[in-house]
Amino acid sequence: MKATIATLPGDGVGQEILPAAINVLEAIAKRFGHSFEFVPAIVGGAAIDATGQPLPEETLNIAKCCDSVLLGAVGGPKWEGLDYSIRPERALLGLRKELGMYGNLRPAKLFPMLADASTIKLEVLKDLDLLVVRELTGGIYFGEPRGIQTTETGKRGINTEVYTTEEIVRVARIAFEAAQKRNQHVTSVDKANVLESSELWRSVIIEVHKDYSDVRLDHMYVDNCAMQLIRNPRQFDVIVTTNLFGDILSDEAAMLTGSIGMLPSASLGDKHAMYEPVHGSAPDIAGRDIANPIAMIASSVMMLTHSFHLDAEAQAIDAGIYKALEQGYRTKDLESPSCITVGTKEMSGHIVAAILTS
Ligand code: NAD
Ligand code: IPM
Ligand code: MN
Repeated sequence: MKATIATLPGDGVGQEILPAAINVLEAIAKRFGHSFEFVPAIVGGAAIDATGQPLPEETLNIAKCCDSVLLGAVGGPKWEGLDYSIRPERALLGLRKELGMYGNLRPAKLFPMLADASTIKLEVLKDLDLLVVRELTGGIYFGEPRGIQTTETGKRGINTEVYTTEEIVRVARIAFEAAQKRNQHVTSVDKANVLESSELWRSVIIEVHKDYSDVRLDHMYVDNCAMQLIRNPRQFDVIVTTNLFGDILSDEAAMLTGSIGMLPSASLGDKHAMYEPVHGSAPDIAGRDIANPIAMIASSVMMLTHSFHLDAEAQAIDAGIYKALEQGYRTKDLESPSCITVGTKEMSGHIVAAILTS
């Protein structure tokens, strides 16, 4: 097949992990006889430096015109002093909103050989396989009013959590449909004991659930969920939750797999999709060839599955990641005395080699 893929490395480790994913996809193209055309574009801090804007019109157009989008990460200390409206992070929110990508899948699966990399006991983690479905274009990230006001007594910072029935219905459907293909269990996470937006969230989830009688539905308050994820994460199959809660809980779930450098994501809408790791630009390790490229490479696996329906190809990358880990290769975040510590490039090189030799 032929496909165009917009590649937006962004900032920090994004510049290192996206080329790693491109190498892996080129290996897949070679082995399976596909033609992937990569269309590079600037985003985030890199775009601010070049154009003054985090999401230039040209980048947005490339993202809209390509069959799929791969994004590294955005942000970093260099741009932290800027006004919120032109910060690197606005580019990510702009892409999600402009491309209508309202459902974000964040799967946390434990590779058995990484069980000792997590700070949690092995018996708690064994066979961990959960999926966080995060609402991505609503909630407090986008609600109005927002801003900082000056009052007679000082300043006042405002953000607003808003959800409409329509926004909840469409993300609920993504979660229930994902659960039908997994273990038929959805846990909806909210704060319905305090927030009206959550009260609506819960009632809409209950309503949508009527179309999915083969799926078991539970509700959980977000504070309890944060605790249950550490106490007994295997009780979860699919977690569906709001934008902010999903952001926080998915970073927590990442650590169950050994490192945030392992967690991929797919941002899905009705017309467009973007694939990006859950982690950020990791300024503390950027530019040193030590970042873990697996979250980015696994995001491209999600792209092959969700956007291109190339299941054998996706499977080949998964097997490549598995083999490289089985051979004992680890990036620094997963370092262990019995393993071989390698850099970003070398890790992806081992995955490429596994793809081309199997
Ligand atoms: P972060 O995810 O960038 O880093 C948190 C910690 O995890 C750091 O210690 C980092 O070194 C480590 N880490 C992250 N990715 C790693 C990888 N691939 N391999 C090994 N270690 C890895 O979060 P942060 O430090 O809170 O944020 C840094 C910047 O990234 C901020 O500007 C933030 O806004 C931005 N950010 C962007 C995204 C995104 O683009 N999707 C996501 C989160 C944060
Ligand atoms: C993520 C990030 C983003 C978010 C930021 C950088 C806007 O943390 O993708 O998880 O909060 O959605
Ligand atoms: Mn986040």
